[in-house]
Amino acid sequence: MPDRNNTELLPSEQEDYINRLGDVLMYRYGTEHPKAFIHTYGCQQNVADSEKLKGMLEKAGCELTEDKESADIIIFNTCAVREHAEDRVFGNVGALKALKRSRPSLLIALCGCMMEQEHIAEKIYKSFPYVGLVFGTHVIHRFPELLYNAMTTGKRRIERGIDDGKIYEGIPVHRDGSFKGWLPVMYGCDNFCTYCIVPYVRGRERSRRPETVIEEARSMINAGYKEITLLGQNVNSYGKGLDSDVRFPQLLKSVADIEGDFWLSFMTSHPKDASKELIDVIAESPKISPHLHLPFQNGSDRILKLMNRHYDVEKYLDIVSYAKSRIKGLELTSDVIVGFPGETEEDFQGTLDLIEKVGFTSLFTFIYSPRVGTPAARLDDPYTHAVKAERMGRLLKLQEQISAKRTAAMVGKRMRVLIEEQAREGILNARTHGGVVAEVPGDASQIGGFAEAEITEARNFILRGKLL
Ligand code: SAH
Ligand code: SF4
Ligand code: F3S
Repeated sequence: MPDRNNTELLPSEQEDYINRLGDVLMYRYGTEHPKAFIHTYGCQQNVADSEKLKGMLEKAGCELTEDKESADIIIFNTCAVREHAEDRVFGNVGALKALKRSRPSLLIALCGCMMEQEHIAEKIYKSFPYVGLVFGTHVIHRFPELLYNAMTTGKRRIERGIDDGKIYEGIPVHRDGSFKGWLPVMYGCDNFCTYCIVPYVRGRERSRRPETVIEEARSMINAGYKEITLLGQNVNSYGKGLDSDVRFPQLLKSVADIEGDFWLSFMTSHPKDASKELIDVIAESPKISPHLHLPFQNGSDRILKLMNRHYDVEKYLDIVSYAKSRIKGLELTSDVIVGFPGETEEDFQGTLDLIEKVGFTSLFTFIYSPRVGTPAARLDDPYTHAVKAERMGRLLKLQEQISAKRTAAMVGKRMRVLIEEQAREGILNARTHGGVVAEVPGDASQIGGFAEAEITEARNFILRGKLL
C-alpha cells in the first residue's frame, strides 16, 4: 500500500518540458502561441484539473481559446459518472474528424475519468484514429512531457499511470473565473458507493496539507476572489492519514478566518460523517455560506444499505434538523438517484417522503446508470426505464412545488448578493449567500462585486429583485 499523503513538487523534468515546448510549438504551428481549447465534462474535480492543464499550456506559450474551430490543440476532459456523459464524449469526438482532416497539425487529446477505464480508453483509441493522445487522471502532472512526446514523435499514445497516492503541488493553474474560484482540498474517494465509478477512476483519498490550502486561499483572496469553494468528493474525511490533527471543520474555519471580504463554501459532504462540529463552524462564521450540499441519494433504508452509504433516513434527518436549528437562512441541496436496481414503488415513496420532510432548495436528480465494474451493475433489475422516468417526473413535480414555496417566502427580504454574470440585456444573475439565483437589473460593470438587494418576486427556482 503506497503512502497516502505523500506530497511532492511538480518534478523539475516537467518544468523542462514546459520550457522546451516553445520550440516544438513554433516548429509545428509557425507560432509560439498556438491556440488551445479545453472542454470539461463532469464535476468540479474535472474543472479543477482542467485549470491545471490550462495553467501548463499557458506557461508553455499557448493562448487559451473558447473557439474549438480555430484551435490548434483540442482537449476533452471527460466524465464517466453516467452513461449519458460518456455518450456525449463519443459524439463530440466523432464530430472532430472533419476538423482534423482540414487541419492535420491539430492535436486532439482526451483525458479525465473515462480514460481511467481500460475498455473505454481502448475503444476511443481504436474508434478515433485521429486522437493523438489519451491520458488518465493519475498522470495530469506529466502533461508537459506527454504533449512534448506526442508532438515530437507523432506517435499515438495511451498513458494511464498508477494511483501512487501522491499529490503534486506547484502545478501552474489558470483559473476560469476572476472572482469565483475552486480550491481542491483533497483528491480521490474511498467510499465505494455501489453505483459509483468515481473511486475506480480517481483513486484513493488523499488530502492536501492544510498550510498549502490556506496559503492558496490567501493568495486567491489577495487576487480579488470573492467566493472560494473548497472541493473534495467527501470533504468530511479530509485529513485522514495526514501527519496533522487538522480535520475539515478546522480547515474550513482557518480559511474563513483569513482577513478579507469573501464568501466561503465547500462541496461535497457525505452524510455518514457530517459532524455537529462542522455545522457549528458554519453557524459561527459569517463568511461561510449558509448552504449545505448533502447528497441523500435515496429515502429507503433498504436501498441505502444496498448503495453502501453507511447512514439511514433517521440519521440523515437528524443532521438536517441540527443544521436547521443552528444555521440561520440555511439552504439545503442534495443529489438523488431514482431507479437503483430493484427499487420498488415503496422504496421510491421513501424518497418522496424525505424530500417533503427536508424541504430542499433544489435537487440534482439522476436516473440510475449502470457502470461497468461497480457492484450495483451486477444486481438484477426488473424495472424498466419507463417506470423510472415516470417516478422521476413525480419527484420533479414535488420538488418544483417545494422550491416555489421556499423562494416565495424570500420575497420582501433584503440580502447581500454576489453579482455573477449577465443574464440578458440589462439583467444580471446574482446569487444569495445560500446560493439561490436572483435576477437583478444592472450592467456588466457590476459583475464580480457584492451588492445589497431586495427580493421583489419569486418564480419557482429563481428570485427577482432590485439593487439597493
Ligand atoms: N462525492 C459526491 C458525488 C459525486 S458524483 C457524493 O458522494 O455526494 C455526483 C452524483 O452523481 C452523486 O451524488 C450521485 O447522485 C450521482 N451518481 C453517481 N453515480 C451514478 C450512477 N451510476 N447513476 C446515476 N447517478 C449517479
Ligand atoms: Fe461516488 Fe460515493 Fe465517492 Fe461520492 S462518496 S464519489 S457517490 S463513491
Ligand atoms: Fe465525473 Fe470524474 Fe467527476 S467521473 S463526476 S468528472 S470525478
